[in-house]
Amino acid sequence: MTPRWTPASWRSKPVSQMPTDYPDATALQSAEEQLRAYPPLVFAGEARRLTSRLAEVEAGRAFLLQGGDCAESFKEFSTDNIRDTFRLILQMAVVLTFAGGRPVVKVGRIAGQFAKPRSSSVEQIGDVELPSYRGDIVNGMAFEADERIPDPNRLLKAYHQSSATLNLLRSFAEGGFADLHNIHRWTLNRATEGGYAARYRELTDKIGESLDFMRAVGVTPESHPDLSRVEFFTSHEALLLNVEEALTRPDPGTGEWFDTSAHMVWIGERTRQLDGAHIEFVRGIRNPVGLKCGPTLESDDLLALIDTLNPANEPGRLTLIGRFGADKAADRLPALMAATKREGKRVAWSIDPMHGNTQKAHNGFKTRPFERILAEVRSFIDVAEAEGVHPGGVHLEMTGQDVTECIGGAQALTEDDLSSRYHTHCDPRLNADQALELAFLVAERLKSARTKRSEAA
Ligand code: TRP
Ligand code: MN
Repeated sequence: MTPRWTPASWRSKPVSQMPTDYPDATALQSAEEQLRAYPPLVFAGEARRLTSRLAEVEAGRAFLLQGGDCAESFKEFSTDNIRDTFRLILQMAVVLTFAGGRPVVKVGRIAGQFAKPRSSSVEQIGDVELPSYRGDIVNGMAFEADERIPDPNRLLKAYHQSSATLNLLRSFAEGGFADLHNIHRWTLNRATEGGYAARYRELTDKIGESLDFMRAVGVTPESHPDLSRVEFFTSHEALLLNVEEALTRPDPGTGEWFDTSAHMVWIGERTRQLDGAHIEFVRGIRNPVGLKCGPTLESDDLLALIDTLNPANEPGRLTLIGRFGADKAADRLPALMAATKREGKRVAWSIDPMHGNTQKAHNGFKTRPFERILAEVRSFIDVAEAEGVHPGGVHLEMTGQDVTECIGGAQALTEDDLSSRYHTHCDPRLNADQALELAFLVAERLKSARTKRSEAA
């Protein structure tokens, strides 16, 4: 028998990657108490709807596009930033929907993606050593002793920022901005008119023509409201369990527990210990959940994690997110996919081509070569096709801003360009051009799979 789950049962398990050095335990408790009294950010019914959309991904009838910041920050909180990320997701979704001929499930890493796991608990510069930065919800990024002290007020600030972000996203999704008839207006007006801007315009012209045709035959936003709105979901890593616990509430209708901090949460590569606190927490909530699968994960361990996280084998409940590195995916992924398939596990498979491809540039910047990101995505699709598994989605760190954090892409960013617009609070993100280029690459593969399907039919 599995011991009884409660929103707090994780507290009796080994906890990793959470700050342990709050100077004032009472202040922390009081912040948690306040969060407990705050309204939910999302409703149970919305999280259930995402589960049913992800079940379509699992069945091979839809594609998951999940993306956003590595870490949201208090400083970069602005309307423009949120709008640009949302708009980029719409653009990518258009490209992917058109090519694949299948719905795209749109999930942001946004409105709560604040906490960061770190490979080391301290950071050293020269002979000064300070506690590591753990995300704006914990401490400050500046390399100063004061800044690195965990501050419970940051929990409340992150809640309020998430709530305002989500409010704006809901308006964008429902209030007309996402109307397909606006498709020409989403174009990000950048100076560099790379190959992908031209290809995007070609595509939006085609869609514009189709919409005109459909209007002529009576398919209008009035008759078909889905033309003018999108379903947009939020997600973040379930890392700070005290925050997740405080926002976990029973659904009044069914009594089931939902983490109302986001529609979907995932478990990171560093916190997926079967007997650890993070797996314990996530197994009891009814939201759809993700599990990052890295190069050290063995098939047996994966199957045990699946049994714990999805004992009823419910499609849509669990999304596995591979993150191996371009050179390791072809080596590690086939066995994992074969195991889930052999055991009849109803899981969706997605790929995070970011986290296994980080390297240090000659000038000290953390970067990711665009070519390696593309290579891991290609490898993912190749392996999935060979194993007879649906390559169900991508999980990306990206921004609508024109940053210089990943090298390569159509603009051919070099290591020497990194210093010009390097704004990330943690890992290097794809800029808008690079993200769109990646969407086109995935689209080509989805299109050829679609052609094969219709030839076989
Ligand atoms: N609601 C549909 C969908 O989400 C169609 C749609 C409306 C759409 N606006 C969109 C698709 C923007 C992609 C991007 O698929
Ligand atoms: Mn990251």
